[in-house]
Amino acid sequence: MKARSQFVCQQCGATYTKWVGQCSNCGEWNSLIEQAIEDTADKKLTIDKAKSSGKKLDFVKIDSIIPSDAKARLSTSFSDLDVVLGGGILKGSVMLLAGQPGIGKSTLLMQICAAVAKKNNVLYISGEESAGQVKLRATRLGAKSDKLNFAASTSGNDIAKTIETGEFDLVIVDSIQTLAISEIASAPGTVSQVTNCGNLIIRAAKATDTAVVIVGHVTKEGTLAGPKVLEHLVDVVLNFEGDRYGGFKTVRAVKNRFGSTNEVAIFEMLDKGLSEVENPSAALLSERMNTDGSVILATLNGNRPILVEIQALATPSNYGYPKRTASGFDLNRLNLLIAVLEKRTKLKLSDKDIFINVVGGMKLNDSAADLAVAIAIASAVAGRKLGEEYVVFGEVGLGGEIRSAFRADQRIAEAKKLGFKHAIGPATVKDKFVVPVRDLRETLIRFVK
Ligand code: TYD
Ligand code: MG
Repeated sequence: MKARSQFVCQQCGATYTKWVGQCSNCGEWNSLIEQAIEDTADKKLTIDKAKSSGKKLDFVKIDSIIPSDAKARLSTSFSDLDVVLGGGILKGSVMLLAGQPGIGKSTLLMQICAAVAKKNNVLYISGEESAGQVKLRATRLGAKSDKLNFAASTSGNDIAKTIETGEFDLVIVDSIQTLAISEIASAPGTVSQVTNCGNLIIRAAKATDTAVVIVGHVTKEGTLAGPKVLEHLVDVVLNFEGDRYGGFKTVRAVKNRFGSTNEVAIFEMLDKGLSEVENPSAALLSERMNTDGSVILATLNGNRPILVEIQALATPSNYGYPKRTASGFDLNRLNLLIAVLEKRTKLKLSDKDIFINVVGGMKLNDSAADLAVAIAIASAVAGRKLGEEYVVFGEVGLGGEIRSAFRADQRIAEAKKLGFKHAIGPATVKDKFVVPVRDLRETLIRFVK
């Protein structure tokens, strides 16, 4: 029997009949990927150097092209999510929704399906759950429409063929890791299956102007298990992040060919499915107890200003070395801030265990969170509260200097909206609302001691 797949080095393109760890052509390790042999590859190509076999391209005036933006967009029924997508789901676009197992991907997509199926034909394909299971979820979410269809399949070939019929405006594929095409021997979820299935589906979607959402599970470290390769192929990559058990979950576009990548949609999981959080700052602050170690940070989640409580706890170390734990904040950054605090403010921290918690399960990715974390630690160690009227933002440099924060005006506006009187922030911000600080030591003396 003729081999139907081959192994291709992704670095140099050398082909092998069997998998090897190192490409003997270019020396790269672990670069072989199994791929189906396409028919065209079998034909003996003879290239006549003098005459090219190609034909002249048809070109058009760029002014005369109808932008894909002008095509209809399907609303997800979640206003913030539509903004994240640049105005809804674009017909003919392929989207990857990536997130940890259990975060709510299937739930979100079923809710979107229900909304889109009010007017358009929708097909939900699951390779993970049976029809009965999906129906149970659909009932729970109140999804009901005669335009909403379901199919269970793990065949990439069949799914592509179904999309090619052009009968549907939106197709959900849940999830890419369960799919396989028959030409390739490797197991579902492997790079070769994921790439080839992805390619088939994308080609079918583009040919028929069908919007497709592909679900991809990610590992704990946040990498797409296998389908990292898919990120390059699809038009939009949405990351679904947050705590699996309660707390806020955010959806953000990490790649978007039709919109900005700065917007986020914030959700919480209720018993009737996911619901958008209208005012996340108020919700995050509603249970606040103003104790020592508690500081309100004015931060940004994508483009969206948001106020979160940072909590610090300091306890005497029982063992020889102090323990440092951070939830929602980068541990390396915490260690760096502790070193700066010790060196620049003479606060003694080497005999204390320090814990940092960002309330509400938020993961901070904002250099301007430094000052709030530093003040929270100092406040916990000194056992003194920061005044209730303050929010904090600013980056802390290694010299203990307070550096500027981007989009300060948005942070200030959000703090004002929630009734705060002042912000402690970098001196570069020219606004009466901000009490300017230049140096970490000076800040602690003024506000914590
Ligand atoms: P699910 O969408 O299946 O996650 P994923 O597809 O990302 O693996 O569901 C996530 C969790 O949400 C699941 O543990 C049950 C819970 N859930 C609710 O709390 N309320 C609901 O209405 C639904 C449908 C699920
Ligand atoms: Mg699921």
